[in-house]
Amino acid sequence: MPEQTLIVLKPDAVERNLIGEILSRFEKSNFTIVKLQKLNYSKEMAESFYSVHKEKPFFGELVSYILSGSVVVAVLEGENVIEKVREINGATDPEKATKGSIRGDFGVSITKNTVHASDSPQSFEKEVKVVFS
Ligand code: CMP
Repeated sequence: MPEQTLIVLKPDAVERNLIGEILSRFEKSNFTIVKLQKLNYSKEMAESFYSVHKEKPFFGELVSYILSGSVVVAVLEGENVIEKVREINGATDPEKATKGSIRGDFGVSITKNTVHASDSPQSFEKEVKVVFS
């Protein structure tokens, strides 16, 4: 059964004109882009999107970073897409991400880590509502 995930190309990706490069990596892995939009988060959207991290010391930085510029959000579909896309993205911290992964190749820091992807079907359901409604 095909599965779906939500990805966000963060402000550092959009500012550096990496949208095409990153989306092409997902397409080359045979995932289908079923929804795609460039947008700016509102403060309410950002706080809701990242609500699982609200007690973390980096929550404020996370929210202000995602508000700092335009992002591109997409729904990708395919077999095992949640797990596969997380492999393609690489480790959260670009310093620990392998070369050839998106964060390994383009990530700037743990905050400016270029791309987000849902970590479970439950996260996907929540995240898609925040960005596409
Ligand atoms: P993302 O995949 O968008 O999900 C939550 C984000 O929190 C993560 O990418 C990182 O950008 C950020 N994050 C996770 N851990 C830390 C940390 N220890 N310090 C700062 N930011 C973090």
